[in-house]
Amino acid sequence: MRRPMVAGNWKMHGTRASVAELIGGLNQQALPAEVDVAVFPVSVHLGQVVEGLSGGVVSVGAQDCAVEPGQGALTGEVSGEQLRDVGCKLVLIGHSERRLILGDSEEQVVRKFVAAQVAGLVPVLCVGETLEQREAGETLAVVARQLDSVIEALGVAALSDAVVAYEPVWAIGTGLTATPGQAQDVHAAIRARVAVKDANVAGALRILYGGSVKAVNAAELFGMPDIDGGLVGGASLNADEFGAICRAAG
Ligand code: G3P
Repeated sequence: MRRPMVAGNWKMHGTRASVAELIGGLNQQALPAEVDVAVFPVSVHLGQVVEGLSGGVVSVGAQDCAVEPGQGALTGEVSGEQLRDVGCKLVLIGHSERRLILGDSEEQVVRKFVAAQVAGLVPVLCVGETLEQREAGETLAVVARQLDSVIEALGVAALSDAVVAYEPVWAIGTGLTATPGQAQDVHAAIRARVAVKDANVAGALRILYGGSVKAVNAAELFGMPDIDGGLVGGASLNADEFGAICRAAG
């Protein structure tokens, strides 16, 4: 049985003051013990969040990592080793905003996935199609290609210590959530594709849905057989709503 996970991607939001307020709100939340909860602040706030969260019930992750796992002459980069050193347990890899806006190539996504695992972090591999690709009937092909990039480079076993997040680009930040059926169809296809290589890895793989997850729609989404939780953007910046989404996964 897969443990549900709810992760909050804070994206490029927050100041030390607002982060302190959000941490305080999260520390007040009654979070279900059966759900793995994580938050992903911007890198400059990681130390503050790790030290501010109480009770050890919420893990902290980073939104990206360098292609090199250790240390070196890469100005501006933050490595997996340094992320782990400040207390990170996970890292988002290949978020659509990094692929489409910030130019992360498929090759860089794979290298960052490797770097994360070398550093002992759990990579959360983000996949998903644009509206144009969905309207062209290319959704499953796009997601398969993004998944295959990692599997072909590293082998399916690499997914045994990873999480996949399906985030239809057209649902991110738009309020236009995929229907539970739409999301389930892609999640099932992801799991089936992994199962062709290794049924055990596929059965254990947690596949999160991301794209306008809110407290009002979380329970229906999380009730689908292949949706193992959510990767939450905007709603994760409100402690009460994020707590409600976490409870909906319990
Ligand atoms: O990584 C999660 C994010 O892309 C989803 O954003 O605001 O649609 O929940 P949002």
